Amino acid sequence: MTIHGALIAGTGSCVPERQLTNFDLEKMVDTSNDWIVQRTGIHERRIASAGESSASLAIIAAQRALATANTSPAEIDLIICATITPDMPTPSNACLIQQALGCRRGIGAMDLNAACSGFVYALVTATNFIKTGSAKTVLVVGAETLSRITDYTDRSTCILFGDGAGAAVLKQTTDRSVGVQAFELGSDGTGSMLLHVPAGGSRQPATAESVGAKLHTLKMSGREVFKFAVAQMSESIQKAINACGLTSDQIKLVIPHQSNARIIDSAATKIGLTADRMFVNIHRYGNTSAASVAIALDEAIRAGRCGPGDWVVIIGIGGGLTWATVTVKL
Ligand code: UT7
Repeated sequence: MTIHGALIAGTGSCVPERQLTNFDLEKMVDTSNDWIVQRTGIHERRIASAGESSASLAIIAAQRALATANTSPAEIDLIICATITPDMPTPSNACLIQQALGCRRGIGAMDLNAACSGFVYALVTATNFIKTGSAKTVLVVGAETLSRITDYTDRSTCILFGDGAGAAVLKQTTDRSVGVQAFELGSDGTGSMLLHVPAGGSRQPATAESVGAKLHTLKMSGREVFKFAVAQMSESIQKAINACGLTSDQIKLVIPHQSNARIIDSAATKIGLTADRMFVNIHRYGNTSAASVAIALDEAIRAGRCGPGDWVVIIGIGGGLTWATVTVKL
């Protein structure tokens, strides 16, 4: 079997227009701009309007990625959409994207749930389809509308989450030295209740009572998830660097999950990476789960922070618990 390369040929992203600032949140819950900035690094986040959904944001992000990759929807062989907030439990967001883009009938389309690690899990899945020759062009999307499952009376969570989508087009190439060169997928289900939505699934179907009690919203044990993320992020980034026989000096940019600026700073310090080599946009978007590193990758490339030939480490960490890392040569 011939093993191919899987190049990230283009990226795109889309965030809602509407902004929710820390000062807006001060009027909604007992919090302050100073507390949020100091504890999280977040200044504002984007919130979907009534007509928007995770699929509608995903479709625009995908169109932008296809344009950058100079690829037509007809070329796509497979769509993978990472999300924990699909438009509906079924059909998948991926099918809605397939229809909206006008892709060929019969291509593979599926959603993937690995919470904040979802986009990196999807990148790895897409890469392996391409490497083995099962697909030539794969559209990978991370899309969320976390505002739809956030309790805006709970100050411990509502200050964190935002909405948005990011996408990447992966294409088969004969050059195996580009694209994902190493990866790690991880999970630890013993921490599954640290970040969860109690109701609305098959264990506790939605009822008037469950909705009244806000059991369809995200519940998080912030301190425990924080400790896990701090330890896991530095360990996984270091492993990703070692996996390709690189030193940290050779990494042009790390694109970490944007859940808390303190988690990112702590990982950078442990590994000895200067702040300019950690991409950060959390101040503008907060935590957008599966969309987080997808948006960050697109913004980093468009801002010229990384480009063809550069080594980049992308890392997702979150609910499940899950983590996922890729070492990529762009
Ligand atoms: O994407 C998935 C991964 N998610 C994460 O990585 C998130 C990880 N967790 C975190 O980022 C942090 O734990 C939080 C930002 C959620 C919380 O920060 P913290 O420094 O861990 O605060 P804490 O939960 O230990 O709370 C410290 C204090 C408490 O008051 P007392 O008990 O010390 O009096 C909280 O009640 O801060 C209080 N507090 C707030 N005060 C003002 C909690 N939320 C707020 C708030 N505004 N929004």
